[in-house]
Amino acid sequence: MNETSREIALDTPFKKEVYDGLSSYPKYLSSKYIYDKKGDKLFQEIMELPEYYLTNCEFEILSTHTKAIAEFFRSNNKGFDLIELGAGDGKKTKILLRYLSENDFNFRYKPIDISQNAIDSLTKTLSQELPKVRVDAEKGEYFQVLERLQSFTERKKVIMVLGSNIGNLLHPRAISFLTKLKDVMSDEDLLFMGFDQKKDPQTILDAYNDPTGVTAAFNKNLLVRINTELGANFDVAAFKHWERYDPETGTAKSFLVATKAQQVEIPALGLHIDFEQWETIHTEISQKYDDKTVDWLAGEAGLKAVAQYADGKKYYKNYIFSKK
Ligand code: TRP
Repeated sequence: MNETSREIALDTPFKKEVYDGLSSYPKYLSSKYIYDKKGDKLFQEIMELPEYYLTNCEFEILSTHTKAIAEFFRSNNKGFDLIELGAGDGKKTKILLRYLSENDFNFRYKPIDISQNAIDSLTKTLSQELPKVRVDAEKGEYFQVLERLQSFTERKKVIMVLGSNIGNLLHPRAISFLTKLKDVMSDEDLLFMGFDQKKDPQTILDAYNDPTGVTAAFNKNLLVRINTELGANFDVAAFKHWERYDPETGTAKSFLVATKAQQVEIPALGLHIDFEQWETIHTEISQKYDDKTVDWLAGEAGLKAVAQYADGKKYYKNYIFSKK
């Protein structure tokens, strides 16, 4: 830390993580901070892109196997709590919610998301579209929320994690995340989770590198946020979105690459940073899986897969896990 920064409080996780990431070499920032109001909107545009197959595949799975999945969730007359981590706009979940609602399942839906904006609009659209569903939304991060889940012991819980959420974690962190989920589960509880599968590497690269530039704008929203919220002066146009995929490990990574040297001031952090031309900021991981890897991760965490559902192309799979 330099002299000025010591007097400046890193009093939010956002400030602390931006400080740490941009003071490191190589530099990094966490993709979870992309999601503000503008970021949420850009992500919805990503989900509409023809190249971004993930949402459509999972939508197909949930539409095709609605009944089978819902029957797994069914419980005794006490009903169950359906807790979704990273609920976003809930577009896919609504298929299940509609089925559960129309078939008079006794349940309560608890969506959790890091974006207050996402939580607010989801609560609103659900009250209009599925007024019978009892909704109790909460803003929060996975690991904080997990502790609160300990208190859900009255009846069966089904914990749901869709999209590419688990994919944001490299294997060791995924195992610790799954272990923490297992620790709050009782024997009858279930975990319903989506895993994007390994496939033609070109298909994956295209999904994270669309020609219209929506993905680039989405990734760069991190810098836009640092400019607006922390008073920084990033020349956002002088960064290039870059995607890399390693078919052996299944790890896709997104970067922002400085196309010219620049000096950036971040007054709220008391931080001055130099970028050399072509210097990188690593912003996200999107892990791709196969059955062998999913079984290994689950086993390490004390979970076992009891069912799996795939789309027609086998691009994406949803697994149901219970405690081993
Ligand atoms: N992590 C999400 C995913 O794997 C969201 C995402 C899509 C993303 N494209 C991105 C995050 C580009 C950062 C950069 O689908």
